[in-house]
Amino acid sequence: MRRFLLAALALVAACNAPGAGTQAEESGERQVAPVLTGADARDESSFARPEVARVTHVALDLAADFEARRMAGTATLDIQAADGAREIVLDSKGLEIEAIADAEGRPLQWALGEGDERRGQPLTVQIGDARRIAIRYRSAPEADALQWLTPAQTAGKRHPYLFSQGQAILNRTWIPTQDSPGIRQTWEARITAPEPLTVVMSGERLTAEGEPAGEGRRAYRFRMPHPVAPYLIAIAAGDLAFRELGPRTGVWTEPAMLEAAARELADTERMMEAAEALYGPYRWGRYDMIVLPPAFPYGGMENPTLTFLTPTLIAGDKSLVGTVAHELAHSWSGNLVTNAVWADGWLNEGFTTYFENRIMEAIYGRPQAAQEAALSWDEMQRALEELGPDSPATRLHNDEDTGGGSTGIVYDKGAIFLRTLERTVGRERFDTYLRGYFDRHAFQPMTSARFLADLRANLVRGDRALEERLQLDRWVFEPGLPDNAARPDPSAFAGVDRAVEAFGAGGAASAIPYGRWNTAERIRFLNRLPRELPAARLAELDDAFGLSSSGNAEVLSAWLQLALANRYDPAVPAAERFLLSMGRAKFVRPLFETLAGEGEWGRPIAERLYERARPGYHAVTASSVDRVLEL
Ligand code: BES
Ligand code: ZN
Repeated sequence: MRRFLLAALALVAACNAPGAGTQAEESGERQVAPVLTGADARDESSFARPEVARVTHVALDLAADFEARRMAGTATLDIQAADGAREIVLDSKGLEIEAIADAEGRPLQWALGEGDERRGQPLTVQIGDARRIAIRYRSAPEADALQWLTPAQTAGKRHPYLFSQGQAILNRTWIPTQDSPGIRQTWEARITAPEPLTVVMSGERLTAEGEPAGEGRRAYRFRMPHPVAPYLIAIAAGDLAFRELGPRTGVWTEPAMLEAAARELADTERMMEAAEALYGPYRWGRYDMIVLPPAFPYGGMENPTLTFLTPTLIAGDKSLVGTVAHELAHSWSGNLVTNAVWADGWLNEGFTTYFENRIMEAIYGRPQAAQEAALSWDEMQRALEELGPDSPATRLHNDEDTGGGSTGIVYDKGAIFLRTLERTVGRERFDTYLRGYFDRHAFQPMTSARFLADLRANLVRGDRALEERLQLDRWVFEPGLPDNAARPDPSAFAGVDRAVEAFGAGGAASAIPYGRWNTAERIRFLNRLPRELPAARLAELDDAFGLSSSGNAEVLSAWLQLALANRYDPAVPAAERFLLSMGRAKFVRPLFETLAGEGEWGRPIAERLYERARPGYHAVTASSVDRVLEL
């Protein structure tokens, strides 16, 4: 036992040796990232025991079977193990394992252990001396990470479509590996799909057009040379076209969407330049995006080299591209420096929300960035009110959050924390610090404790008065909002706030310059209106501004929230169209929540709509609505 422990420590030390990664990279070997071992870095969402044996590289060779709705083939894992380690524990959820063998094809013993609904099951493999193993398997048709769309769910209506969503702990439903953000892995993949579908993944494309793979299929190969958290392995396949946007950027989507998507995303290359000017080089090669079908459950997902986006961002006027800035920013905060455990999701999402705002300021100017920051402040205030200021759910480091930012708090409070640091020490000094932080911890996991230690060593530097003013531990570990919080610009929405007041005092909707407002101003207006309004007043708003037929998903969602909470019947058809046309959880869940909260009026509407909408929703969205409706 003692010998084993010493060996395990040696393994961790070897992985942590400074510069080990860079040397390996230079000599053409694969980079191996360290795994943190402190108590704050224990991932309770994974069965893996990386101190005994850990996966360093995943090679996938899979066929996408649209009829069976399965990915099938092999995953070959490279393993680094402590001396004397004889087994490795992987994560698995619903995977059908056929066989596991070593590099010479000799079968290895394996077992699926006891697990639970959330995490799945531990897959323990008796590796003996083997340091490379091949797992033959297939995913289940109901794998949470994968959504298999019928042609009817696509823009073109002619071909099926597949996409994956790995964050937070879903990739274990299609990839048998150690599914923990602190265990970084390089990867490569060969994926076959039936013609004429194109396959794209979150890594470098090695085959531009795909290669013939027999039986009317083509094979696409990819590789990710940097060690990444395994939730960032992502795939999409469908009838896809590509348009170049700049030297390093481009967009994939269905042909029918290509023109609109390219127009909407035209500023992406400039965003990259702005981001690099702030926090250093973009380290991932290309930054492409894919605009998915409307069933995609998120606004965006920062899959490396290939951000996944909802089509609800395509508003026609670039007004929702803050999400692009956000996903791009994750190329530093999240993908480069990654939360080691989901309880520290704020290190990904809070940093990114702050960074997003800095990119927006650089591209679209201070006033617009100030407006978006003020909307984020309002969001946080609403969350604090809802949860209560003492609720543990309002802490940044949140042991109860197993979804890495499933609550809005980590986004908004996290960003306000960083803005507070910026305002306290000055922008120049804080920018220098943050840039250094990304350099010091590139391709490594991060915890709250490590971040605070880094901040103290490199920003506070023993300044007792500064330490006192910042209230660092309070920000990270306590609920509520510390009193030094950087407040939003009170004049960011001066005109809108006057209009809200006038309308609240009985003024006419027709007197409001809504048509001249930008999207942020419209959202502020709708969210700040009195929460209780009679039907006649709602009708006035709807008639004056065409709210129920808004083509802007954020505006429509804010309007429907207000209208449905007031049992405003004329808005029900618009709600129905909206909820049946897309599956983005951020819009879907709150609307069902509002309906369900409206008793004998709303509950039947919710149930009738949900019965029709649910089959089209991704597992993430469906399970969140199931909880709301207590199904
Ligand atoms: N990484 C998140 C999406 C996510 C969070 C997936 C938690 C699974 C669990 C992504 O970067 C994100 O934050 N998306 C937001 C957009 C952003 C502008 C707030 C979204 O989807 O709305
Ligand atoms: Zn994010």
